[in-house]
Amino acid sequence: MNKFYVAAAIPYVNDVPHIGHALEAIQADVLARYHRQQGDQTFFSYGTDEHGGKISEKATSLGVSPERYADQVVASFVDLTKILDISYDRFVRTTEAQHVQSAQFIWKQLAPYIYKGSYKGLYDQKEEEFLTIEDGQEIKRKDPERFARLQAIEEENYFFKLSAFAEKVKQAIETDTLKIVPSTRRNEILALFERGLTDISISRPKDKISWGIPVPGDDNQVMYVWFEALMNYITTLGYPNGENFKTFWPCDVHVVGKDILRFHAAIWPGMLLALGLPLPSTIFVHGFITVGGRKMSKSEGTGIPPMDIVSVYGSEAMRYYFLRHVPSGEDGDFTWEKFERVYNGELGNELGNLVQRTASMLNKYQQGMIGAMPSAEHDRGPYDEAIANLRFDRALEYVFGLFRGLNQYIDEEKPWVLAKDDTEHLSEVLAYVCSSLLQTAILLEPFLPKTASKINEVFGSGVVKNYDGAFFPRIENHSSPKH
Ligand code: MSP
Repeated sequence: MNKFYVAAAIPYVNDVPHIGHALEAIQADVLARYHRQQGDQTFFSYGTDEHGGKISEKATSLGVSPERYADQVVASFVDLTKILDISYDRFVRTTEAQHVQSAQFIWKQLAPYIYKGSYKGLYDQKEEEFLTIEDGQEIKRKDPERFARLQAIEEENYFFKLSAFAEKVKQAIETDTLKIVPSTRRNEILALFERGLTDISISRPKDKISWGIPVPGDDNQVMYVWFEALMNYITTLGYPNGENFKTFWPCDVHVVGKDILRFHAAIWPGMLLALGLPLPSTIFVHGFITVGGRKMSKSEGTGIPPMDIVSVYGSEAMRYYFLRHVPSGEDGDFTWEKFERVYNGELGNELGNLVQRTASMLNKYQQGMIGAMPSAEHDRGPYDEAIANLRFDRALEYVFGLFRGLNQYIDEEKPWVLAKDDTEHLSEVLAYVCSSLLQTAILLEPFLPKTASKINEVFGSGVVKNYDGAFFPRIENHSSPKH
């Protein structure tokens, strides 16, 4: 039996989830569901990243402790997984004892590559990122808004000898031992290696930021939030001795956004090599969601909470839009208008209508009896290939191509005409459609699990129940609840 481990990035809890977080969780969920269906022993890890200055500052501004504040926001991320049917196997919190203890153990393991030094440079608390003065100059040109928030810092902290592993990590990426998908991101990270990798700061002085995991043996320092957050991918498996760690490491696919590529493709592999652990197989890098072409921003009303969409159109429509209409591995855009068009057109007209008319013809002409279904095996090669290449959009397009094909088949065969003069062929046509629908539902399941199981409910028993037709009912002119 194959094993499959997929891990999504763990979001910060400085704010409630938005549709960008949803995209990531949904993509990782498809991989988990697909591999479970293939019979692979599967582990899907999700969770929250809870330490660091950005979170403690937010808690302070609200007058609550970071612990309390984190608990509240974590609940909203757990809700997100519920409303979107995200089938994680474990939800890791970086404040939980297992993570904290394991992170301290890892720190000690890494001791041969850790040294104390003085850091002079810049810090971006919003991204929790150390930057050099040169990085600062580049940011000044490209993103003055970001430049304005950079803090100049000079402090004693611990460094990790990342430079010692740069060549090995670079080679792993060049040879696709560590595959970075899509290739544009692979090129981007290789360009970074060309410029060279320096050692990195991995702690912060406690008097500046106290909300972090204590550095073993030094009461004055806490771990740099990114350094311990990356460790979640193995602490969640119970590293070093947990059974899950033995079964599932190395990770098969990390699902991360384009803004955190460097952490996952340069720093994390360096840490793993220092620990003597194998590297992940693949890092899948998705793009960013914009809203009406603009960066999501709460103050401009474009930081859309997933529930705003789900409460109107349902979770399956939300999953569909983000998997099919955000090109996998690239940026994508959301507008209410486009969403509604896709909902009514692709889900309502193509799929909903197909299910509805098939069921109602069976009821009308054959008292709901489907009859002997032929085995309608179809070629699933392009579908499997699309998933292997992490092209969720193409896989789903293939599935909907099959639905369109069935609609066309019904239009050509005209069961309503057959009902008058050729009931034998009518029965064959309807049985073929049902059989194909049931087969296609298997391919649909990782993407739209509820819809797949509804199709099974309607046609799976051989007799269509009194079907009420509530498959993606039409919704007109809905716009954002806030508008
Ligand atoms: N806490 C870090 C990740 C640590 S992983 C060891 C972090 N958190 S985050 O909340 O800022 O982002 C979490 C994920 O959401 C990242 O992969 C990020 O790329 C993704 N997204 C954040 N905004 C996004 C969009 N607008 N669109 C798509 N994904 C986005 O980074």
